Amino acid sequence: MTESFLEVRDVYSGYGKIEVLHGVSLTVAPKEIVCVIGPNGSGKSTLLKTIVGLIQPTRGFIQFDGSEISHKEPEENVELGIAYIPQGKNIFPSLTVMENLEMGGISLKDSRKARNAIQEIWERYPILQKRRKIKAGSLSGGEKQVLAMARASILQPRLILLDEPSIGLAPKVIDEMYHHINRMNREGIPLLIVEQNARKALRLAHRAYVLDLGRNRLEDTGEGLLNNEEVQHLYLGR
Ligand SMILES: Nc1ncnc2c1ncn2[C@@H]1O[C@H](COP(=O)(O)OP(=O)(O)O)[C@@H](O)[C@H]1O
Ligand SMILES: [Mg+2]
Repeated sequence: MTESFLEVRDVYSGYGKIEVLHGVSLTVAPKEIVCVIGPNGSGKSTLLKTIVGLIQPTRGFIQFDGSEISHKEPEENVELGIAYIPQGKNIFPSLTVMENLEMGGISLKDSRKARNAIQEIWERYPILQKRRKIKAGSLSGGEKQVLAMARASILQPRLILLDEPSIGLAPKVIDEMYHHINRMNREGIPLLIVEQNARKALRLAHRAYVLDLGRNRLEDTGEGLLNNEEVQHLYLGR
């Protein structure tokens, strides 16, 4: 038995004839925050899309909580408890905040359960309650990202995949975002986060990987990569 909750082993994937991932491997243990950093175009988003089943790997193996998921459909993975928050465009802009959350809970068969989940969200993210009647499209960038995370949390996921949660946000807003991310993790949810802008993510991550041109390049603790001179020079803009 492996201790990994999620295991990606030697995965190849891409778009039609274009291969983007050339044998990528990583693991996420229960309760871990794992971060993948890498330059634009290195395949970070493709990696998450492959894990959730939006793209089928051409080779390799993906396992979640002891079961192979290499070729599952996205809906099946949602049912297994994998939440995926894509980069940008992760809310319905023309629906209100409340309606967005209701959409997130739509697959909860028990409507009382859904109501309770939304009640919990108001307590956790008071800003969303305050804004519950306005169109999600008119929220600030940070609020949209919080809404996307809140919506994903309604189904009580067992693993969250987050694609560039801090993109386009001001530093203070990024801090708030990572505060929420950290809290979710302290409550026991493992997270796999990909980031191009990575300092904050590395500070929080238990372990981290550098992806470059669709291949694993480095792997260490978050702290280790943060202090790695090569990483600082090549990937953290120092
Ligand atoms: N839908 C697509 N069709 C064809 N190529 C794509 C598609 N999406 C991304 N790519 C290509 O795959 C490579 C990796 O992209 P991506 O996974 O988005 O990288 P990252 O998220 O690290 O910036 C890039 O060269 C990109 O041009
Ligand atoms: Mg991306």
